Amino acid sequence: MSQNPMIIAIDGPAGAGKSTVTRQVAKTLGILFLDTGAMYRAATVGLYDAGINPDDAEAIAAYVCERDISFDSTGQVLLDGVGLGERIRTPEITAEIWRVANNPGCRGHLVDLQQAIVRGRDAALEGRDATTVICPNAGLKVYLDASPEERARRRVAEWGDMDDAPSIEQVAADIRKRDESDMNREVGALQQAPDAVHCITDGMSPQAVIAKIIAWAVKRRPLLLDSVYADQLLVGRSREPGYVKVAQGSVSNPPAPWQLGFTNPTPQRLPGQVTHYARNAGGRQAGVLCQGRAVIVLAGTEDTPTLPIALPMLPQTWYVIEEGVWHAVVQESGTICAWAEASGLTEDAYELDDCAREVVNTYLSVYQPEDS
Ligand code: DC
Repeated sequence: MSQNPMIIAIDGPAGAGKSTVTRQVAKTLGILFLDTGAMYRAATVGLYDAGINPDDAEAIAAYVCERDISFDSTGQVLLDGVGLGERIRTPEITAEIWRVANNPGCRGHLVDLQQAIVRGRDAALEGRDATTVICPNAGLKVYLDASPEERARRRVAEWGDMDDAPSIEQVAADIRKRDESDMNREVGALQQAPDAVHCITDGMSPQAVIAKIIAWAVKRRPLLLDSVYADQLLVGRSREPGYVKVAQGSVSNPPAPWQLGFTNPTPQRLPGQVTHYARNAGGRQAGVLCQGRAVIVLAGTEDTPTLPIALPMLPQTWYVIEEGVWHAVVQESGTICAWAEASGLTEDAYELDDCAREVVNTYLSVYQPEDS
C-alpha cells in the first residue's frame, strides 16, 4: 500500500533540544533526519573561507546560491561535496550565521535544497522555518519550546563544574537575545505554525519528549508502522519450544506464576512475511508483530484479548504490558537491547523505573480514548 510520505517538522528556539530529539525520533522510526541549521552553518563556513565581503548582502546571496549543500551517510554536512565536520559549530561561525539566515536570497536557495532532500520520503526535520516554510504540509508539526531559564540550566549543566562557566542568568540573557533575533528577522522568522503542537519541555527528560512526539506521529499516521513484519514474535505464557524465558511475574489474586518470552526469527518467519496473531494459545497475553521498532500487543484477560496496542519501540526493545505489572522484556544474554543497557536493565532486574514507565504510558496514550 503506498501512502503519502510522513513528514515530522519541528521548530523552536535555540537550545530547546530540537536536534537531539528530532535525531532520535528519526532513528527510532527509521526515517530520514534533516538538520536544516547545519546547512546555514555550512554556507557560513563557505563565505568565511571564500573571503566574501561580510557586509555585501548581494555578494553573499550570489555566492551561497551557487553552493551545493548536502549530507553524507553519517550525517556530516558537505559543502560542494567536501565534509566540514564540527567546524560548523565553532563560535566564530555561529556568530556570523545571521548574515546567511537574514538574507532572503540565501534562504530561498537553502529552502529549495531542503525541500529536495525530503521530497517523497518519510523524514523528520528541524529548524526555525521547518513547519512554516520548508514543509507547511507536514503530517506532524511540533513547536518545541522551553523557558529561557530551563534552556540556560541545561546548557550550564553541560559545562559541568568549570570555573569560568557563565551563570544561568547570563546564559538566559544571551538566549533571550538570540530568540529576539530569530523571531524578528524579516525572512524565515521563527514562529509557531497555527497547527503546530506546542510542546513545552520544562522539567521533561529527552526520552519523554521523544516518546511524546513519536506517539503524536503514530496517532496521525497509525500506518507509520505499516512496514512492520513478523521478524520477532513475542508471546505470553507460551509453552512453545524454542521460546526464551525472559521475565516472570504475577498479576492475579492470588498471584499466579506466568512467564514471558520471545522466539527468534525462523525460516518460517522471514522479513516481509506478515503473521497475524489474534492471541497465542497460551492465554492472556496475545500476539505481537514487531520489526525491532514496533510491537502490537493484544492485551486482555484470560482468553479474551481486548485492546490492540501499537508501541513504537526502540530497536530490539520489547515491553509487555499487563495491568498492575510493568516489565521490560530484554533479549537473551549478550544481546540485551541498547535501551535496556542505557537504562541499566538486565535480565534479572527488569522492573521499569518511573521514567521508563512514563515513556511507555506516553506511547500507550495514543491508543487510549482522549479525555473529553
Ligand atoms: O539550529 P542551529 O543552532 O544549528 O541553527 C544555526 C542558525 O541558523 C541559527 O542562528 C538559526 C539559523 N537557522 C535558520 O535561520 N533557519 C533554519 N531552518 C535553521 C537554522
